[in-house]
Amino acid sequence: MSPPATKTQKQEFRLKKEETRTGYTYEEYKQTADWLLSKTKHRPTLAIICGSGLGALGELLKDQVAFNYSDIPNFPHSTVPGHAGRLIFGNLNGKPYVCMQGRFHSYEGYPLWKVTFPIRVFHLIGVKTLIVTNAAGGLNKDYKVGDIMIIIDHINMPGFASQNPLIGPNEDRFGPRFPPMSDAYDKELRKLILAAGEELNLSEKMREGVYCSIGGPNFETIAESRLLRSLGADAVGMSTVPEVIVARHCGLRVLGMSLITNEVVMDYNCKTTANHEEVLQAGKDSAKLLEKLVTLLLQHYEKSNNLF
Ligand code: HPA
Repeated sequence: MSPPATKTQKQEFRLKKEETRTGYTYEEYKQTADWLLSKTKHRPTLAIICGSGLGALGELLKDQVAFNYSDIPNFPHSTVPGHAGRLIFGNLNGKPYVCMQGRFHSYEGYPLWKVTFPIRVFHLIGVKTLIVTNAAGGLNKDYKVGDIMIIIDHINMPGFASQNPLIGPNEDRFGPRFPPMSDAYDKELRKLILAAGEELNLSEKMREGVYCSIGGPNFETIAESRLLRSLGADAVGMSTVPEVIVARHCGLRVLGMSLITNEVVMDYNCKTTANHEEVLQAGKDSAKLLEKLVTLLLQHYEKSNNLF
């Protein structure tokens, strides 16, 4: 093929090259990590990913240094309403954290290596612990809107169809070819968050359960919901699992939390259907609660720092 000559040809050539990529290079992760470190003095060891409607968590941080995703080299852009698309560095009680206000989903058209790009960047800037939050539909009949489910395990539905962020050549500098997932959700962190919930008198709302990821963007059919429930899932959502897989691959400790924003329709006689506005509203209604819970968790986390 002859080299591109005109501006349009050059653009087309670049787009073609982008289309055929199967991942980032180590150098690209490093470039983004170094860029961020050069722009802020904060050196967080804990990162938080805020799910749909839960971005208010990021506003807790003081002395903020915030970046729009579109300004960060190599970062994908967030396209979903309710996801701000900002990376915020800041302090809470004198300790540095980094918070993603808005995440990436495969239903936006991103390959999973793009969806999970920030995780390896976090690892390279020194993050050791990841808190992931999401909005999820309750499959478990005992769950109510506003409940907070601590994730004890997950079912990676797209993974059954070879949709996994670790597919492709393994980058040994991040982790092993075949990482275990049976210990994905950290027991100590789960204990800490349950204790924080108890302290805030939230025990009634706190659940522990299995999160199932689907590709989206449509919500489940009734038959699909019944299938997921029969497989042992307590809640269903369209995110989180790819991030957790990549986080565990590079050795981050993970705490996952689902805010139950709707009861999943399981009955053909039911007149209601799931919708994104309902999800965002439930997120808003419970945002303060989640803020309090995470703030207290971070206090406990700092006290028991020898755990981390
Ligand atoms: N299904 C899938 N994803 C979701 C749901 C749901 O019911 N609620 C919030 N995210």
